[in-house]
Amino acid sequence: CDLYCVFGHPIAHSRSPWIHRRFAELTGQNLDYQARLAPLEGFADSLRDFIAEGGRGANVTVPFKHEAAACAQTRSQRVELAGAANTLVIGADGQMHADNTDGLGLVADITRNAGVALAGADVLLVGAGGAAAGVLGPLIEQRPRSITLCNRTRAKVDALALRHQVLARAAGVTLAVQEQAALAGDFSVVINATAASLQGGGVPIAAQALRPGALAYDMMYGPAAQGFLAWAQQHGAVARDGLGMLVEQAAAAFALWRGVQPPAAQVLAELRAQLA
Ligand code: ATR
Repeated sequence: CDLYCVFGHPIAHSRSPWIHRRFAELTGQNLDYQARLAPLEGFADSLRDFIAEGGRGANVTVPFKHEAAACAQTRSQRVELAGAANTLVIGADGQMHADNTDGLGLVADITRNAGVALAGADVLLVGAGGAAAGVLGPLIEQRPRSITLCNRTRAKVDALALRHQVLARAAGVTLAVQEQAALAGDFSVVINATAASLQGGGVPIAAQALRPGALAYDMMYGPAAQGFLAWAQQHGAVARDGLGMLVEQAAAAFALWRGVQPPAAQVLAELRAQLA
């Protein structure tokens, strides 16, 4: 049967093998999906071994997403903009195509699972690292009214905005950068794409940024998201963690590999029940 895997470092915690095996079960696809720990300096070698074993596709997580984008023979426009790939499609000849389904996953979870429209929304995206870069293009393509970016380090967020201005202009989306410490205005969707909670930091923005009833979304899940979600609820927002994004980015990768759309909402419900 066809072989797939997820590469990361660390990788033992990854839910991807369970998610993809469940997708395969529910869609009747015959495949094997493994978790593979690549050494920090050994991603390219691990990938070569995997292809030699007949691997037909891989997910890639921290810290190899940039390398995955660089080592593929072809790249989607999403990967070019993000500078990072989370999905590799491997042909029978071993050629690799890099894609990035993180942004598709976030958009699907917000619009389909949470039922919140992004079209016409005023979105605040906090952070300018790999997580933010991976989702900005697909967010723009939903044609919100505006997307405001902020980040602790201003130079990084200016560069991210600059890279996406052509796409934003073409979509008719106002893309602006603000100082994180002095945000003006309020937003209907606030997305936390920072690693602040992992660094022991608090929520990096003021609660005034939340319009009453806003959706406050943390791209993390589990304990790392708890601080942001509690803060959002305290301030009258609808709080949502990134578990749905995890399942939906996997569903988009599965569809790229197999040409079949798996039942993501069902698998998300099962995963939530497991983690509760
Ligand atoms: P990832 O791939 O998860 O995005 P990253 O590329 O290291 O990881 O980016 C981490 C993001 O979290 C950055 O936006 C970072 O801000 P800087 O660009 O200023 O480094 C943000 N971040 C990390 N710790 C933070 C903290 N304590 N407060 C605010 N922002 C923080």
